[in-house]
Amino acid sequence: MIIEGKKVMVTGAAGFIGSHLVDRLLSMKCEVIGIDNLSSGKEEFLKSAKRKRKFKFIKYDLLEDEGLEEYMDGVSIVFHLAANPDVRIGESDSSVHLEQNIIATYVVLEAMRAMGVPAIAFTSTSTVYGEADKVPTPEDYGPLVPISLYGGSKLAAEAMISAYAHTFDMKAVLYRFANVVGPRSTHGVIYDFIEKLKNNPNELEILGAEPGTRKSYVHIDDTIEGIIHGVHVSMDRVSIYNIGSEDMTDVKTIADIVSEEMGLKPEYKWTGGVDGGRGWKGDVKLMHLDISALKSKGWSPKMSSDEAVRATVRALLGK
Ligand SMILES: NC(=O)c1ccc[n+]([C@@H]2O[C@H](COP(=O)([O-])OP(=O)(O)OC[C@H]3O[C@@H](n4cnc5c(N)ncnc54)[C@H](O)[C@@H]3O)[C@@H](O)[C@H]2O)c1
Repeated sequence: MIIEGKKVMVTGAAGFIGSHLVDRLLSMKCEVIGIDNLSSGKEEFLKSAKRKRKFKFIKYDLLEDEGLEEYMDGVSIVFHLAANPDVRIGESDSSVHLEQNIIATYVVLEAMRAMGVPAIAFTSTSTVYGEADKVPTPEDYGPLVPISLYGGSKLAAEAMISAYAHTFDMKAVLYRFANVVGPRSTHGVIYDFIEKLKNNPNELEILGAEPGTRKSYVHIDDTIEGIIHGVHVSMDRVSIYNIGSEDMTDVKTIADIVSEEMGLKPEYKWTGGVDGGRGWKGDVKLMHLDISALKSKGWSPKMSSDEAVRATVRALLGK
């Protein structure tokens, strides 16, 4: 599907990934309608986008506001990123992911159906695989048994998007991301460590048991190229692509990189975690995605997990 010069919508446009995607789409001469309720997104992330004539930002809550269809007039594809991405919150509030991730996706799909928007790109997650016993995990791994409400909500959204695509003649590209890191990230382990060390440079509390979970981290630049590439090469009604890096890293290594870049030598205080060393309930201990499907179509990540982590720490520190 060609998107250069087309009119497109991005939900979650002011978020970490959304704002980078907006910048990239504008560089491709797209007319971009950005939707965000600014719950975790920041308008400052759209500073450069707002200077472009082809960008329109609409402060809009997918669950509270009405009239989403109006903004979809002439839109060729909706990039649906708006969601609550906080895995941990599911344990204390069981309604957030149902509402923000499942119902909000339904709202977007219904508006698309009403306006005959032909395509959707959706940002799903590695957590749909649960604790896969095949690692690196390919897209056709199953059964999918998520262990967090977040993973469950994203899998439900994937299923609904597939059903809409087949029933109402749409195309869908579903991306299952590893941990995405980079400038403008406002959550996740790197952001947390930096904030904690700014508050107390001598000690770092780390959730879990040493050396922590081992996961794949992918840089935002590689992620955005993967999203764009995936849309360009997808011909099927529903395409699914993992997006990650070629390797994994553990939480201790991330703590070491953050400390080194901040010029600190803090004492690490491991909390011990839950369920045999997880950071929190629903935290997957080992995650590495098989990215050969999208690689076989010409995309590949430039950075390893550690390189992506280090580049992110430097960016967040303003280095
Ligand atoms: N960051 C990651 O590592 C990662 C990994 C896998 C999947 N994802 C997915 O990628 C997408 C973007 O994640 P992110 O890391 O940029 O998070 P983010 O919180 O920065 O972005 C989400 C955006 O959606 C907006 N939003 C939330 N609820 C909304 C609503 N009801 N109406 C309108 N706007 C709303 C928020 O204000 C925010 O700007 C999400 O769908 C997330 O689940 C992220």
